[in-house]
Amino acid sequence: MKLSVFCGVSVDGFLARLNHALDFLDAGGQEPHGFEEFYASVDVVVIGRKTFEVVLTFGKWFYGKKRVVVLSSRPLDFSTVKGGVVEQMSGEPAEIAAELKARGFKHAYIDGGITIRRFLAAGVIDRLVITRVPVLIGEGILLSARCPATSAFTT
Ligand SMILES: NC(=O)c1ccc[n+]([C@@H]2O[C@H](COP(=O)([O-])OP(=O)(O)OC[C@H]3O[C@@H](n4cnc5c(N)ncnc54)[C@H](OP(=O)(O)O)[C@@H]3O)[C@@H](O)[C@H]2O)c1
Repeated sequence: MKLSVFCGVSVDGFLARLNHALDFLDAGGQEPHGFEEFYASVDVVVIGRKTFEVVLTFGKWFYGKKRVVVLSSRPLDFSTVKGGVVEQMSGEPAEIAAELKARGFKHAYIDGGITIRRFLAAGVIDRLVITRVPVLIGEGILLSARCPATSAFTT
């Protein structure tokens, strides 16, 4: 099974503003960057609990009918997810990847800053696509906070 990251960050490396706003991702216009093709190729989305909480504020369920796994060490309430296919998992990234593989998934989309870093540190990410949005936002939630060095890539 392949595990991929596909995310957008500001030039100064932020995934989101401190209040979790993602408005800056539209800076410079919406030229094609391959996300639709990428998203069509994944059969499971793995997101961190904090990203899940932000996605819930969008109103419409962002992931359509795609299987979504929300990672958290605490019980989560999925009752407000309308029309989505959601479940919870927790544990070591390698164990999560092995379980998804055993269940027959072929391509997982790993998302959320802390979540991406944990999967990278575990060395289980096969492909990392980072889109740099041409804007500086000064402060926010970093993709690359301090974490252990790793030779994470297999490709
Ligand atoms: N620009 C982009 O492309 C992009 C993409 C994704 C997200 N974002 C933004 O990034 C922000 C969220 O990122 P974040 O770094 O704050 O957090 P995150 O990765 O979304 O969520 C972190 C939480 O996920 C849970 N978690 C992660 N790995 C786990 C594991 N292996 N086992 C159990 N639980 C695990 C933990 O939840 P518990 O504390 O509940 O245990 C952890 O606190 C949001 O503002 C979101 O909108 C931006």
